[in-house]
This record gives sequence, structure tokens and C-alpha cells, in this order.
Amino acid sequence: MSTHIGAAPGDIAPLVLMPGDPLRARWIAETFLDDARCYSEVRGMYGYTGTWRGHRVSVQGSGMGQPSLAIYANELFSEYDVQAIVRVGSCGALTEKLAVRDLVIASGACTDSSMNTIRFEGLDYAPVADFALLRAAHDAAGSLADGAGVHVGLIFSSDSFYSPRPELTARMVEYGVLAVEMEASALYTLAAKHGRRALAICTVSDHIVTGEETTSQEREQTFGAMVEIALTAALA
Ligand code: ADE
Repeated sequence: MSTHIGAAPGDIAPLVLMPGDPLRARWIAETFLDDARCYSEVRGMYGYTGTWRGHRVSVQGSGMGQPSLAIYANELFSEYDVQAIVRVGSCGALTEKLAVRDLVIASGACTDSSMNTIRFEGLDYAPVADFALLRAAHDAAGSLADGAGVHVGLIFSSDSFYSPRPELTARMVEYGVLAVEMEASALYTLAAKHGRRALAICTVSDHIVTGEETTSQEREQTFGAMVEIALTAALA
């Protein structure tokens, strides 16, 4: 096993779907995968491997925030030879161009995290999605989005769910950022570092401008559509 994942080499598939919530990882495995087997319960951050339409696929919870995601992404890339990670998460809409339940496919991820400031000694690195995965997800979303709007663009990976400086988030919006979440920037950076592929797809769970929120039933429905898009994009 690696430090935080209780799996043997070969237990984890080359493609990993990565929700933040480990209970969502279990739900994806039970809902979408055949012959799903739990390979890790370390710290309750469940990981499962099964098959989808005959393809091996794993699902690994990341926890919330870039430091937590980075632990799992680093170990998956460096110790389990994972080739692609698709984050399937939620985000808060920052502009009225988006509605709750819409999908955001993140072409790139800005951040207020110091992780890349430290990594690049103050230079601004631009973490971006794998283009082939992004294009495939956009194509799949055309038929599978279940009525939700689909947007491709920049998101803001914030270290704070409760922002201490909302005016700075507003400035991000002036520069084209669509939504806020907490993980994609680290995922894109680590995929680049390891020469692997990554994509973040997020459903809009709450609207920062209008105050609207989704019900848990709506979240489950839109989350399911997003998982199908992610699987179709990466495997079909
Ligand atoms: N994920 C979902 N909604 C969010 C929000 N409002 N801020 C940060 N991450 C989120």
C-alpha cells in the first residue's frame, strides 16, 4: 500500500474518477460499476475498482481542498501508475450565465492556494485540462446532460469555502471565471508534473449570486448525469 491508500499494485485501474466525498465514491461504485470491490478504507477515504461496459475503472474519494486531493493524486500517479483522473465534483456559480444543476467542464483552474506559488517560486503557472478529455466530455455532455446547461471555461480553486475576501472572487469573475470549487488546480498541476491526463467536471450545487441551492435529490440526479459523461468521455 501507499501511505494513504490501502491498495496493492494492480488493484487500481488506469482511469480513476475522483469525487471529493468518499460516500459519493461508494455511490458511484454501487450505481455504475459491475463487480465493484473496495480497495481502500484508509481514513474513510473509500476507493473502489470495478468495470463499466467492460472497461476497468476506479473511483477514489479526494476529500475537500487541494492539500487533501494532492495526497491522493500524487500517490495514484506515482505509486499505482494511474494514467488519468477525472474529478467529478460540485461548484458554486459566480455568474448569472450559470444556473444551479448546470455542468461546468473546467478548461483551466485559477487559485488562491500557495501550493503553486511555492512550487514555482512566485511565477504564475496556468493549470489546464487535458484537451482530448475535455473535448470528449463536451461531446458526451451534448447527449447526456439531462437538460442541464453545459459550460466550458475557467474555474477558481479556492482554499476557502467561506471566502475572507469576496471582492477578490468578484475580480476573478471580471476576468472570465465561471465558478468556484476547491480542488481542480492541484489536480491539473499534478497531472502535468507526472505527464498524465486530468479533467474536472463540476455540477453547480449552489449559486453565489442568486443564493439558490439544489436539493439533495437534484444533486444526486445531476451528479449521476455527470458521472455518465465522465465515463463516456474517458472510456467509450
Ligand atoms: N463547491 C460547491 N459549492 C462551493 C462553493 N460555494 N465554494 C467552494 N466550493 C464549492
